[in-house]
Amino acid sequence: MTAPATTSSVTDDDAEAPARTAVDDPFDKDVLPTPPGATGALLRSLLAPMRARVALTSLLLLLQQAAVQAGPLLVAYAIDRAVPAFRADDHGPLVAVGVGYLLCALVSGGLQYAFLITSARVNQDALLDLRGRIFRHAQALSLDFHERYTSGRLISRSTTDVESLRELLSEGLQELVTVILSFLYISAMLLWLDLGLGAVAVASFVPLYLLVRIYQRRAGQVFRARSTAIAAVIVKFVETMNGIRPVRAFRREAVNDADFGVLNRRHERINGDALLEMARYVTGSRLVANTAVAVIVLWGATRVADGSLALGVLAAAVLYLRRLYDPIDRLAMFLNSYQSAAASLEKIAGLLAQTPSVPEPSAPRELPARESELPGREVVFDGVSFGYRTGGEILPRFDLTLPAGQTVAVVGSTGAGKSTLAKLLARFYDPSGGRVLLDGVDLRELAVPELRRGVVMVTQEAFLFSGTVAENIAIGRPDASREEIERAAKAIGAHEFISALPDGYDTDVRKRGGRISAGQRQLVAFARALLADPAVLILDEATSSLDVPGERAVQAAMATVLKGRTAVVIAHRLSTVEIADRVLVMEHGRIVEDGSPAALIAGTGRFAELHRAWRDSLA
Ligand SMILES: Nc1ncnc2c1ncn2[C@@H]1O[C@H](COP(=O)(O)OP(=O)(O)OP(=O)(O)O)[C@@H](O)[C@H]1O
Ligand SMILES: [Mg+2]
Repeated sequence: MTAPATTSSVTDDDAEAPARTAVDDPFDKDVLPTPPGATGALLRSLLAPMRARVALTSLLLLLQQAAVQAGPLLVAYAIDRAVPAFRADDHGPLVAVGVGYLLCALVSGGLQYAFLITSARVNQDALLDLRGRIFRHAQALSLDFHERYTSGRLISRSTTDVESLRELLSEGLQELVTVILSFLYISAMLLWLDLGLGAVAVASFVPLYLLVRIYQRRAGQVFRARSTAIAAVIVKFVETMNGIRPVRAFRREAVNDADFGVLNRRHERINGDALLEMARYVTGSRLVANTAVAVIVLWGATRVADGSLALGVLAAAVLYLRRLYDPIDRLAMFLNSYQSAAASLEKIAGLLAQTPSVPEPSAPRELPARESELPGREVVFDGVSFGYRTGGEILPRFDLTLPAGQTVAVVGSTGAGKSTLAKLLARFYDPSGGRVLLDGVDLRELAVPELRRGVVMVTQEAFLFSGTVAENIAIGRPDASREEIERAAKAIGAHEFISALPDGYDTDVRKRGGRISAGQRQLVAFARALLADPAVLILDEATSSLDVPGERAVQAAMATVLKGRTAVVIAHRLSTVEIADRVLVMEHGRIVEDGSPAALIAGTGRFAELHRAWRDSLA
């Protein structure tokens, strides 16, 4: 069960979270413990809106079983009454039995049809609801959740886990109810037909019940393991394909093949274990059932011989027993789907029980009206400190005020905490201590649309969604007209290359010919930000993926984007810093220098040193 230690050490340049091993996935249990009772509550809440239809399907099943189980009774009547009557030239009873049998078949068929239709609707609605809930919930959860819970896990939740619930609802529950009902009906019938034979049948329930319990316990473990195993297969698959570029770059294919093989075979082996348990159970239950039938046939036959039992009653009893033991295999099927579904539902419930660590405000506030002559808004970090959940403190307590309209460049060595500072300002995370204020309003109290309009962060990834270039630019303002979109693109200097694409602004960015380079993606992201027109704009390392001419184009574009707002620019290149009013130098989470570029260059600090080195390299 162990995997090579090298498993999934691939990282992608735009995947910030460390990749973790997918083998023996204790992750769900460790990170998302399912609160007690959450699983049952989830199932109830899924079925609650359909209570009437659930009741209707149960009623249909009840009636259908009654019609089905009337069969052997009619056979007993035929043998003991109708055939002797027929011999005495009274044809009525036999005809009645024939018609009755046919009617029962018709009624049970019709009811079965109605049941299948109604129950299918109930299931479809429940699953539709569940998939929607998983998507909405996952999307609403905060970034720190997504950094821990990989997309492979989310995919596995909304595919295989929902699927196993579907199996339970569409087949399993029907099996269970059918089995219980037929046990009740048939036991009652047998006892009524003949107390002795009935008692033998009922006595056989005891070993059967024990078998079911044993199976349930063993299979429960196996199915839980199987559900984890298939999730691990999917997680590995998705992680590998997400990181396909570094996989190629570092020739990880062979290692990945081996890792995937381990996971795939583990799933297969557990599946084999499940089948073995099932085979044992079916064999055991058949043995009990056939023993009971043998006892009843032997004992019943001697009683028929000495005249204390009617032949028809014995025939009916044997027919009933066949029907009684048939559903036992199906009970195992039910237990299978129940175990799988329970394991899946538990994981889904764990996911749905997660609350966003960056919650929406309960009493949202608006930003104060913007004074027209003041561009941008004031940002204040008031006694802020911050650490990611997984580690220690990244930003020790600090205060910082960015006046409205100021362009601030943040520089510092890698890992200094620049992006972390920016993410706090964009409220991707909430500070551990202190407050981040936008024009005096705590970001945590700010209404979500206000926050979205107020602060926009452009990251290095410059992610493009499937859709056209125009749609991608308009993401920050979906109601923008084509003229506004083009104006934004022109201002940024992206119009030329967009016009050269096969369908211009209507080119689908995910289709052939629509592929655009990293620098062009960056320009699209700038146009997007310009169109969104936020009061505060954050650019994180926005130029790092560009070549020198590209950087010049972006530099010009940047000046356009930054005008008229408060801006925070994080850049490794000092050329970018020249357009700033103020420079912050960060080291180990602290702001160690703060001043105008000219003042810092004139000084003797770290920035002056960096700047001198940079100027020398240009000369
Ligand atoms: N999601 C995260 N979870 C845990 N720790 C993180 C996370 N993101 C960053 N860190 C840690 O926080 C510290 C600061 O990271 P940050 O991304 O803010 O640095 P940075 O100054 O932007 O660096 P760079 O210039 O390389 O982008 C680093 O030590 C990093 O390991
Ligand atoms: Mg960074």
